[in-house]
Amino acid sequence: MSQLYERAVAVAENAYAPYSNFFVGAAVLARDGRVFEGVNVENAAYPLGICAERTVISRAVTDGCKPGDLEEIAITASPCGGCRQWIYEFRFDRVTFKNADGEVVTRTPGELLPETFEL
Ligand code: THU
Repeated sequence: MSQLYERAVAVAENAYAPYSNFFVGAAVLARDGRVFEGVNVENAAYPLGICAERTVISRAVTDGCKPGDLEEIAITASPCGGCRQWIYEFRFDRVTFKNADGEVVTRTPGELLPETFEL
């Protein structure tokens, strides 16, 4: 299992998920070697919660990263449709995640979201 995926597994324990009890961790490797981590953060008003992927991408952007600066994202769950669009936007080379069969797999953003919407 990759080191980046292990970082995602470790940080998942910090998820704030009292409503779903579904703890998700994500880790991002930037091209310059920096690693960012994120978790899902839920809210009593359910739609206001944020997924681990969007948390970690937002942290990377806050620290100056732009689309093309991020090499890989590892996630402890299969990314939801909205997060696939976010992952596509930031032009990651690789997405590593645990799929529905419990296997850790690596895909490209395009494989996860074919015929993607772009502006
Ligand atoms: N979740 C993520 O953090 N990432 C995904 O791609 C799948 C879903 C979170 C959102 C919510 O807090 C919980 O998992 C259950 O949907």
